[in-house]
Amino acid sequence: MCGIVGYIGDKMAVPVLINGLKKLEYRGYDSSGVAIFNNSDLDVVKCKGRLSALEEKVIPKSLNGMVGIGHTRWATHGEPNDINSHPHISKSGNIAVVHNGIIENYMKLKEFLQEKGFKFISETDTEVVAHLVEYHYRGDLVKAVKDTIEELEGSYALGVICKFHPDEFVAARKDSPLIVGLGKGENFIASDIPAILEHTRDVYILEDKEIVHLKKDEVKIFNILGAEVKKDVFHVSWDVASAEKSGYEHFMMKEMCEEPKVIRDTINPRIKDGKIVLDDIKITPGDLENIDKIFIVACGTAYHAGVVGKYIIEKFAKIPVETDLASEFRYRNPLITDRNLVIIISQSGETIDTLFALRESKKRGARVLSIVNVVGSSIARESDDVLYTWAGPEIAVASTKAYNTQLTALYLVALDLACKQGSIDEETCTRIIDEMRELPSALEKVLADKADIQKFASEHYNAKSIFFIGRGLDYALSMEGSLKLKEISYIHSEAYAGGELKHGTIALIEKGTLVICPMTQDYLLEKMISNIKEVKARGAVVMAITQEKNKEVEKAADIVIKIPDVDSVLAPVTAITPMQLFAYYMAIEKGCDVDKPRNLAKSVTVE
Ligand code: AGP
Repeated sequence: MCGIVGYIGDKMAVPVLINGLKKLEYRGYDSSGVAIFNNSDLDVVKCKGRLSALEEKVIPKSLNGMVGIGHTRWATHGEPNDINSHPHISKSGNIAVVHNGIIENYMKLKEFLQEKGFKFISETDTEVVAHLVEYHYRGDLVKAVKDTIEELEGSYALGVICKFHPDEFVAARKDSPLIVGLGKGENFIASDIPAILEHTRDVYILEDKEIVHLKKDEVKIFNILGAEVKKDVFHVSWDVASAEKSGYEHFMMKEMCEEPKVIRDTINPRIKDGKIVLDDIKITPGDLENIDKIFIVACGTAYHAGVVGKYIIEKFAKIPVETDLASEFRYRNPLITDRNLVIIISQSGETIDTLFALRESKKRGARVLSIVNVVGSSIARESDDVLYTWAGPEIAVASTKAYNTQLTALYLVALDLACKQGSIDEETCTRIIDEMRELPSALEKVLADKADIQKFASEHYNAKSIFFIGRGLDYALSMEGSLKLKEISYIHSEAYAGGELKHGTIALIEKGTLVICPMTQDYLLEKMISNIKEVKARGAVVMAITQEKNKEVEKAADIVIKIPDVDSVLAPVTAITPMQLFAYYMAIEKGCDVDKPRNLAKSVTVE
């Protein structure tokens, strides 16, 4: 996620901004910048790379101003480079803006502004905001920002500074966090509390569509109707370390709790007038006529998302799909031709096995579509088409929100391919899209009800070996549930197809063996209930995860974790979260380092 800091007071603004941005580095970024009132001018200094690069660039400029805004950018629209970094300035150069979030209707606004003579120099959605504020500016900066945000769709936290208002600046937010720091003779804005904690512990937490007008000795907050809002001061009692996790004990929990938002961010900009519009993917119906097989290639969690993708693409697009572990794919002399589409999945976009599998595919003539979380990463740059999962930086080594958004992206790709070749009718596509839009609220319900999972973990954390069994999409889910548990609790686990258990592995089931059963596929429910009976007959303890409506599961399993009644085909996006939570609580009970498990790296960039 991007980081924003703003300052107005009697100190030099630059060190306050840069030190504040350093406290937000954990959010992940690829470029940074500041806009400062310098005497009567507005100076903007920004560049790709770490904050140290910005500091070097700022020094010779001797920016002595005491009002400014700063930004660390996590790229979404437009790769990391100097021009795409923030702040962005308006046509006249009199207004500078920093932004965290995604402006979903930026293309429409960009076309409108271009018709009004505004010229764009960056690939970002944010530049639209800078020009739009100028377009609305008639001398009142607060009103110009208010008129601007009324036209914005999507998520934003904004800092806005204007040359004609040297003793003030304005900020606003919707869906992206923004706080106001209240000092003595100085005031601040920031994306997150750590950025201003050394200056003040008194903050306002801004609500959606609130606009804040800051002077060094006055802060006023307005709602979108222009009425002033009185807010309670929140006194921060956290230390800096816990504040970086927004009060969560671990990044992993913070990132699981971000799942509803990042799924919304990944879906919404790609659905226009009820139809899927994947601007990032240039595959045409004509191209599809030349594709007779799809390969999905990845590692670890990304591979497990790919196994779900196989079921989904075959179901909707009716194209045969083969899944491969990247480390196997690149050495097995794969039968890849120019009649294949290879889908590469990677959170980091830098996993070496996956990158080499991409290159192997291209060498053999295949078209490569990648699903990646890091904009401008190696895999993204070397792909023919890229669909970004807008999950924001994932700090915990164990992938959670990235996996949920990878699934979401795979549904979008599957539906896009299916619609392009007419393998599903428009009504079905619209129905599924409508149900996809409900996934964030379904996940919010799952995340609101962690107690049973935490209790179950507290009773079973001494387990020596745990089995995850499922059928169809639930088998793919079991693979990911098992990996999550292993990598953070160090408990041995394996995933097994429910129907395969009796072909050997059931010999391992004995009294007290723990078996986790995702059971979201209506057509396989009875079969799975039989599998539960098989393992229980041998002494197993069974936790099932299933939709509210499946009451019969309660008679079969020892504990049932209920998820909202989403359609079976979309259930993986919500059913994985109870298994992520289970792994998390088991690791906590065992005293493991949840965010940095032993032996593991966030991105495996060496073979
Ligand atoms: C997931 O929890 C693991 N950290 C690991 O399996 C990871 O998914 C794998 O290394 C692939 O990483 P990537 O998605 O960045 O390519």
